[in-house]
Amino acid sequence: MKIVLQHLTKRFPNRNKKIKEDVIAVNDFDFEIPDGKLIGLLGPSGCGKSTALNLICGLEKPSEGKIFFGENDVTDIPPEKRGVGLVFQNYALYPHLSVRENIRFPLENLKGKDKLSKEEMEAKVVEAAKLVQIEELLDRKPNEMSGGQQQRVAIARALIKMPGVLLLDEPLSNLDARLRLQTREELKRIQLETGITTVFVTHDQEEAMSISDIIVVMKDGVLQQMGKPQDIYDEPVNLFVAKFLGTPQINVFNGKIKDGRVLIKDSVIMEAPGKLDTDVYVAVRPEGFILDKDGKLECRYINREVMGRDTSVIAEHDGFIGEHIRAIIPSEEKTNVKDGKIRFSLKQFKVRVFSKETEERIDI
Ligand SMILES: Nc1ncnc2c1ncn2[C@@H]1O[C@H](COP(=O)(O)OP(=O)(O)OP(=O)(O)O)[C@@H](O)[C@H]1O
Ligand SMILES: [Mg+2]
Repeated sequence: MKIVLQHLTKRFPNRNKKIKEDVIAVNDFDFEIPDGKLIGLLGPSGCGKSTALNLICGLEKPSEGKIFFGENDVTDIPPEKRGVGLVFQNYALYPHLSVRENIRFPLENLKGKDKLSKEEMEAKVVEAAKLVQIEELLDRKPNEMSGGQQQRVAIARALIKMPGVLLLDEPLSNLDARLRLQTREELKRIQLETGITTVFVTHDQEEAMSISDIIVVMKDGVLQQMGKPQDIYDEPVNLFVAKFLGTPQINVFNGKIKDGRVLIKDSVIMEAPGKLDTDVYVAVRPEGFILDKDGKLECRYINREVMGRDTSVIAEHDGFIGEHIRAIIPSEEKTNVKDGKIRFSLKQFKVRVFSKETEERIDI
C-alpha cells in the first residue's frame, strides 16, 4: 500500500520561555512512499524521524497536512484502525507473557466478524514465528532470549495482523554489531517475502544504505533528498547530505571556481566551463583519490592504516577543512612518499562541488 504525505507538518510548543517559536519537528513533508518498498528514514538525532513515523501511524496528530494510505485519507483515523505494525527500539514485549502470548496479543482483542478461534490464532502465531525464524522459542519468556531474538518477537507481533504498513523506529540499535548485521538482513528478507510497505527509521547511514530501496534524508524537520541509496551517495544535493552519507566521511576542501576551473589552493582540480567565479567547497569521496606522482593535489603524508583489502592513507592539506584527509586505496599500491609529501590525482566523478554561500551542489 502506498503512503502519501501531503504538506505534513508537526509543531511542538517550545517549553523554553526565552524562545517563542515552536519546534517544527516535521516541516512540510510532501512526498509519496511507493507500494511494497522499504524506505529508510535517515537523519541525525533530533531531526524529526520518530515524529514523522508517529504521524504516519497516528500516535501524533499533524499540525497541518494529510496522510493517505492508498487512496484513503487516514489523517483522522486512530492508530489501531490504520492497519499498521509498529516496532520500537526497546522491543516493548510483555515480560510476564510467553513468546507465543506476546505474538498473539494483537489478535486477542479482535471483535465481531474479525474474532478468531483459538486454532486460527495459533496458526497465525506459528506462521509469523516461522517468518522471523523463532518457532522453537514460542514457549519461552522474553528474558530467556537474546536481544536479537526478542526483537524478532517484536517484529512477529507487528506482522501478525498482516498490516498494510510496517513502521520500525531504530529497531536494531540495541543489538551488538554482528547481530545487528544479521537482523537487518533478516528484516530485508521478511520485507521482500511479505511485500509490506515498510518505513525504517535510523540515524545510521550504513544501515539505511544497505537495506533501503529508497532513502529519505532529513535535517531539522526538513526533507533534504529522497532517492536510491547509490544515487544519493553519488549525487548529493547539498553538503549536509554529502557529509552524512559514506564512511570514512567525504573529504571537504576550501576551494574556488575561477575562469571556468575548480581550484583547491592553486591546484586546478577540474574544468568547470561556463561557471561563474565563486567560493566553493570541493568534496572528494575517500575512494576518489588516486596515488599519482604527477598528481595535482600535493599533501603532507601522515601515515597509512591497512584494513585488509584496502588501505587508508592519511594526509594533510592547507585547504582541507577538518583534521585529516582520508583516502582509500587498494592495499597493494605503494604510497610514493617523497620528502614527506604525497601526490594524488582525483577521479572526477568522485569530486562534488558545493556553493559556499548556500551549500547547495553546483552541477559541473
Ligand atoms: N512531545 C514533544 N514535545 C516537544 N518537543 C518534542 C516532542 N517530541 C519531539 N520533540 C522535538 O521534536 C524534534 C524531533 O524529535 P524526534 O524525536 O522526532 O527526533 P528523532 O529524529 O527521532 O531523534 P532520535 O534519533 O534522537 O530518536 C526534537 O527537537 C524534539 O526535541
Ligand atoms: Mg527517534
